[in-house]
Amino acid sequence: MPDPAITSAPPPQAPAAGLEGVVVAESDISYVDGEAGKLVYRGYAIEDLAEHSTFEEATALLLDGELPPRSPLEELTADLASHRTLDEPSMALLRGLPEEAEPMAVLRTAVSAMGTTDPDALDNSPPATRRKAIRLIAQFPTIVATFDRLRSGKEPVASRDDLGHAANFLYMLSGREPDPDDAHVMDVCLILHAEHGMNASTFSARVTAATLSDIHSAITSAVGTLKGPLHGGANQEVMKMLLEIQEQNVQPAEYVREKLGRKEKVMGFGHRVYKTMDPRAPILRRFSRDLTERAGQPELYAMSEEILETMASEKGIDPNVDFFSASTYYALGITPDLFTPIFAIARISGWCTHVEAQYAHNRLIRPRAKYVGKKGLSYTPLDER
Ligand code: COA
Repeated sequence: MPDPAITSAPPPQAPAAGLEGVVVAESDISYVDGEAGKLVYRGYAIEDLAEHSTFEEATALLLDGELPPRSPLEELTADLASHRTLDEPSMALLRGLPEEAEPMAVLRTAVSAMGTTDPDALDNSPPATRRKAIRLIAQFPTIVATFDRLRSGKEPVASRDDLGHAANFLYMLSGREPDPDDAHVMDVCLILHAEHGMNASTFSARVTAATLSDIHSAITSAVGTLKGPLHGGANQEVMKMLLEIQEQNVQPAEYVREKLGRKEKVMGFGHRVYKTMDPRAPILRRFSRDLTERAGQPELYAMSEEILETMASEKGIDPNVDFFSASTYYALGITPDLFTPIFAIARISGWCTHVEAQYAHNRLIRPRAKYVGKKGLSYTPLDER
């Protein structure tokens, strides 16, 4: 017999597709003003942080809510530097993964595995969660650089405590101390990507944390979510597009018009919240211009500008953070499939801050679906189907 309670239940309200416009939490971590095209971390404009801060300082600001005085900043910087080395099981895992694995899949797998060997694995108290957060932030660059070297048949490079977070990442990738200007560009890129309101991967982390699962589980969820091409995966898709345009020797405007004609998305454009230029894009636009020029690849920047103009005239859509970061990283000599892991190396600070915030004022996140399927069917025995 059908359950009368099921057949007569009133339908829930219409769903908000993609949760657009739905407010799921109060937050004092960052503010994305989509109308004005502004982004602030803990009250500070992203432009100011990009000009004056460092990734370590931005991390302290996010985690603790205030710009740190000198001594706590030095402590955090030293703490991060001292936790860069991966433990033996994590190294063995990275050595065992296939060379052709996607670096984002490697990062996701490594974070999950590290949740089993972390010294605080069984302790989810706030101090233990903070210790785990520091280790995760410190070790993300090591995971990415180590895997990149192993897959190219090179031995991993040990980290250098005397280098900042961004410089050390570049050092571990290449084995050479980076040019200070390159290290500065990477540092600013990490600041720009560190936090961004209730974006998809942050929400994913918070959903996992809201079940009171541990921080490694939450960050594993977040990495998996960032990987998708509609989110962090867009930056490597942008590079694929630029290289394809170059290879096919077509006009960028023509390429974009054809893509739009096929109803395909042009990666690196559009945003759920920004209705104007993403405030991070102009900073990356300057990096792209200067670095591609210096690298002897100014055509990458020229192509990007033509794509931007075409998207503006054809669709009225502006670039997001991923558009100019692609050519910037490429001009720094970084392999395109590391672009999204670099996003993760930055966003881990925002994720950890949100996980702590979720634990601090937790309620299980459990929305509903509007059921549109059949109701009241009678069970048919197997032989009669
Ligand atoms: N290229 C072409 N058209 C785009 C577009 C893009 N990059 N982004 C949005 N649009 C168009 C859509 O086709 C749609 O048009 P329609 O109403 O005529 O169908 C309209 O703009 C709204 O897009 P929609 O996908 O519904 O917006 P959203 O808020 O769900 O998605 C993004 C936001 C970011 C997922 C979307 O803009 C996108 O896919 N961008 C490309 C991927 C990317 O760069 N992601 C990184 C984000 S930081």
